[in-house]
Amino acid sequence: MQAKKLIPLLALLAAACHPAPTTAPEPKAELRSPDGQLRLCFYLSDEGTPRYALSCGDTPVLLPSRLGFSLRGTVKAEQLDYAADGSVSKSDTAPGIAFDRGFELTGTETDSFDEVWTPVWGEESQIRNHYNELLVHLRQPESGRLLDIRFRLFDDGLGFRYEFPGGGGLVHFVIKEEQTEFACADDWTAWWIPGDYDTQEYEYNCTKLSEVAAHFRDKMRGNSSQTPFSTSGVQTSLQMKTPEGLYVNIHEAALVDYPCLNLVVDGKTHVLRAHLTPDAEGWKGNLTAPAKTPWRTVQVAPSATAQLASRLVLNLNEPCALDDVSWIHPVKYMGVWWEMIAGAGSWAYTDAVGVDLHTFDYAAAKPNGRHSANNERVKLYIDFAAEHGFDALLVEGWNIGWEEWANCNKDYVFDFQTPYPDFDLEALNAYAHKKGILLVMHHETSSSVRNYERHLEAAYSLMNRYGYDAVKSGYVGDILPQGQHHYSQWMVNHYLYCITEAAKHHIMVNAHEAVRPTGLCRTYPNLIGNESAMGTEYQAFGGITPGHTAIIPFTRLNGGPMDYTPGIFEQNLKDWCGNDSHVNSTICGQLGLYLTMYSPLQMAADTPEHYSRFMDAFQFIKDVAVDWSESRYLYAEPMEYIVAARKAKGTGQWFCGGVTDGQERSFDVKLDFLEPGSYEATLYADAPDAHFSTNPQAYRISKLTVGPQDTIPVTMAPGGGFAISFRKL
Ligand code: NOJ
Ligand code: CA
Repeated sequence: MQAKKLIPLLALLAAACHPAPTTAPEPKAELRSPDGQLRLCFYLSDEGTPRYALSCGDTPVLLPSRLGFSLRGTVKAEQLDYAADGSVSKSDTAPGIAFDRGFELTGTETDSFDEVWTPVWGEESQIRNHYNELLVHLRQPESGRLLDIRFRLFDDGLGFRYEFPGGGGLVHFVIKEEQTEFACADDWTAWWIPGDYDTQEYEYNCTKLSEVAAHFRDKMRGNSSQTPFSTSGVQTSLQMKTPEGLYVNIHEAALVDYPCLNLVVDGKTHVLRAHLTPDAEGWKGNLTAPAKTPWRTVQVAPSATAQLASRLVLNLNEPCALDDVSWIHPVKYMGVWWEMIAGAGSWAYTDAVGVDLHTFDYAAAKPNGRHSANNERVKLYIDFAAEHGFDALLVEGWNIGWEEWANCNKDYVFDFQTPYPDFDLEALNAYAHKKGILLVMHHETSSSVRNYERHLEAAYSLMNRYGYDAVKSGYVGDILPQGQHHYSQWMVNHYLYCITEAAKHHIMVNAHEAVRPTGLCRTYPNLIGNESAMGTEYQAFGGITPGHTAIIPFTRLNGGPMDYTPGIFEQNLKDWCGNDSHVNSTICGQLGLYLTMYSPLQMAADTPEHYSRFMDAFQFIKDVAVDWSESRYLYAEPMEYIVAARKAKGTGQWFCGGVTDGQERSFDVKLDFLEPGSYEATLYADAPDAHFSTNPQAYRISKLTVGPQDTIPVTMAPGGGFAISFRKL
């Protein structure tokens, strides 16, 4: 039987096997994507519960799925259930107001939209934003409360959000839980990390939806900072694949003034239920009408490469809010960083304990002799970065306070302004600027968020005074004030506050450990990077399984670029600095990341000493662009491999690169993306005997004369990759 004919049959079977919705009414409204392939149906059940369903051609994607909320009722003293120790959890005991039933439909509106917009930086110089829209007006006659639901259907998926116009006394209200469901049509394959209110620094799992909970119990290895909230919770962006070969991705867009979304997987029905990140008391968001939620997104792609090319999440964000963006630019940088992460140096200047920043006399203190951010070492990095054409140098550990920075629950950890005695702030900036290098500021907050906000204006002003135009911030450890989470509404508001305040100072932001990106970089393009996933640092914390970098572009990068910090050339950390961890990638695997892991902020993360031993391979990092006018995904499969080609903005030069998981893989790279003409291609390939663990530094560099009619066969070693730069002849 032909595969195409199978699809409707499988779809019918899937629909038949799935538990029927409580009622199966006729749709009250329908919407088609511009190309007609995707169809959204809106229902109202007999109980007045709003539902939606999504299909692609004849294939059901989401079966009728519940929409709505449970709101916090009035908390009266007699309703509180005091425990023996006098404590009480208001969220557990307060009555919820049902805001997911008893609705009547008061009207619908439709619209369509088609524009092409120009990102300040990105994977392409122009992005098309084309959708049809359905706005549903609902009213709860009993309470008089109003709820609108806005659906946007693109060729590559669905976005919908709730809007609270007010009415019926719904002005200031608290969400007990969002009741949104995504009723997946089948037991799909999912690539997931556990739901967690505070970290995304996990390796991915690949299981069927029905296997999430069992796999979690059997296989999950965690570290102390990882505290999943449930054995069946997962984070977004959640990449899935259907038996029909569709790639379905669920995430959110434009997360503003609202808690971050997690999903709880019902292994039996394959229904994913929203689970918002709670605040310190367990509530899920404080809103004042008129208000709106972030968009809930469901991307539907016919191939893995199409999913990577989808710009739906960006399109659902508001246009750029900054009038002047002339000061925002892509950054290729090095850093006084990896040596501290690996353990060859330290952030702290002394080994003192019990440091009170107000009184501690650093000038008189005994240095520990391992402080990396010292004048001499920073100058060495500046010289190397300048000689090899980099834009910037990050310096971590430049400021006082690192003696007690993480997990001390200390409020006043850093002042973000005072350098250690061996870091001459003024002289080093002057030296760097003379050589054409900008220093990148570092603000580790140690999650003492109020302390950071107290110092923010002074810290950004100091950056302006010395000519820093980019800051890497970080949120290691438990959030202070206690009880708040990295992804709660309060913190979501904090991250955006920093971005908008930074914009006033013409400062670009790269926030680590912050909430996962949801495309806000469209609106605030000074947000040039985030970490918000397991990055290269984990190669020094036990190693990363090859394949991780082939899932990140499907999931974490769906919301915006990651400061993954690629470019590690010395994998043997033991011989270097006694660290038992091993970098599980070949040198060519690291080179491929500059193409497969899109970011306008790219680091060459290793040390000058290590690069000096491999200058021929380092040449690719020097050459590769970081901002693109065109991007093509040539081959991809989640957590297995990605091959991408990109054309540099401005110069028009093409580059191509790939990464693979633990398996050796070969691909024919068709060069039909090249414009007519003749090119010199420089191919950086794993040697035949290369392997991420046993022989990671084996590579071959070859030069070929090619044109758009040609094909370059490439083989990537286990844990390896490749890179090609093209020069027009
Ligand atoms: C964790 C960040 O991810 C890492 O890049 C940084 O060096 C440390 N925190 C210290 O701030
Ligand atoms: Ca981190």
